[in-house]
Amino acid sequence: MNDFEIDWSTQGIVARRDTYYAASQRAFVPYRTPLIFSRGEGQYLWDEKGRKYIDLLGMNVCISVGHAHPAVTAAVIDQVNRLQHCTTMFYHPVPAHFAQELVARMPSGPDWVVHFTTSGAEAVDLALVMAQTCTGHIDMLALRNAYHGATIGAQSLTGISGFRHRIPLLGGIHHIANPDPYRGAFGEDSAAYLAEIDRTIAYATSGSLAGLIVEPIQGYGGIVELPAGYLKAAARKVRERGGVLIVDEVQSGFGRTGDTFWAFEAHDVMPEIVVMAKGIGNGFPLAAVVAQRHVAESLASKFFFNTYGANPVSCAAGRAVLRVIDEEKLQRNAQTVGAALKAVLTRLGQRHEIVGDVRGRGLMLAIELVTHRGNKTPATKETTEIFEKTREQGLVVSKSGANRNILRMVPPMCLTLADVEAVSDALDRCFEGY
Ligand SMILES: Cc1ncc(COP(=O)(O)O)c(C=O)c1O
Repeated sequence: MNDFEIDWSTQGIVARRDTYYAASQRAFVPYRTPLIFSRGEGQYLWDEKGRKYIDLLGMNVCISVGHAHPAVTAAVIDQVNRLQHCTTMFYHPVPAHFAQELVARMPSGPDWVVHFTTSGAEAVDLALVMAQTCTGHIDMLALRNAYHGATIGAQSLTGISGFRHRIPLLGGIHHIANPDPYRGAFGEDSAAYLAEIDRTIAYATSGSLAGLIVEPIQGYGGIVELPAGYLKAAARKVRERGGVLIVDEVQSGFGRTGDTFWAFEAHDVMPEIVVMAKGIGNGFPLAAVVAQRHVAESLASKFFFNTYGANPVSCAAGRAVLRVIDEEKLQRNAQTVGAALKAVLTRLGQRHEIVGDVRGRGLMLAIELVTHRGNKTPATKETTEIFEKTREQGLVVSKSGANRNILRMVPPMCLTLADVEAVSDALDRCFEGY
């Protein structure tokens, strides 16, 4: 083997990773034994031994239009052959076109502008800086069960303790009661959660707000949907205190939820700032903050720079993603196939006592597993066993939520009805005996 050959042996891959990866990048592995992927196509993955899987995770929601999509591949190769990087100090047409095309996907009315970054957390950090700079206020509200990323700013906004390290995170961030219809303190009672916002403002902040950040459907938190009316009323309360609404569409955007292109559009609100990543580039490192001009303009007087922001190769991938979503009607597909998958999950819930809740929209779905439906005790141990079985059955899903008892399904949006049948049979076998 020469220096540039790749050693595909399981032993070699595991040994190198365990030896040379830092714990921070090594520790987050889902299965008891390593799963090594060598190839992907559409909604399918193959491991290094040639075994095929239906991918219901999409590499953590990054693969929006399908693995190795030929249109994305062609756009990337074309751009790579011309120019691999162009800093934003210089001008290039590809990111500029992409910014225009993203703005065209936003609801009409506001004057939207775009700032590209390479990761969701970077974009969340920038959104935080924008909110604080444009309002002149510091206090931020975030939801307790939210996940917004791992950088200091995004981690500070993240409520789940398992993601918060023992370091001095940012001050001025207040986590409010999670409006979770299934497991939240007030069930589906929006008014009760909204009253908690009032109390938090009154007893934890200066009374003035920079903003509120919300995932319209919580992703890692376990596909938690907001109760009806909550987001619109919460945004009103925040604006009364001088703040802005930041919507984190990192998982839920780009048509995944089926009914609307952005999940926030289902809530009759207009955010000042929208954060997007993951599916935007079908796996290429790309993210963006799309903000109303008057908000973004507050950063004009100071230097702010992301070295790889607006990389033309990633933006070429992003442009191809938007085109494929349209040409292959993937938002529509997410709606119809997602509805079929949800019906399957609901039927499984009728057959298997361990299923406590089925929820989500489009192709952003989850099953929550409990040992007892009445008291909703999280079936954490059983979920670990069932999760291993899903792999044996040829499925890739995610184990999510603070209690690790939620099977999250966020597949590439090209999943088909035939796949749903196969998923149904496979999951049925996984739940047998529980
Ligand atoms: C809702 C949400 N926001 C932000 C992030 C951070 O994105 P990244 O991992 O690209 O930094 C994530 C990542 O999973 C996410 O799910």
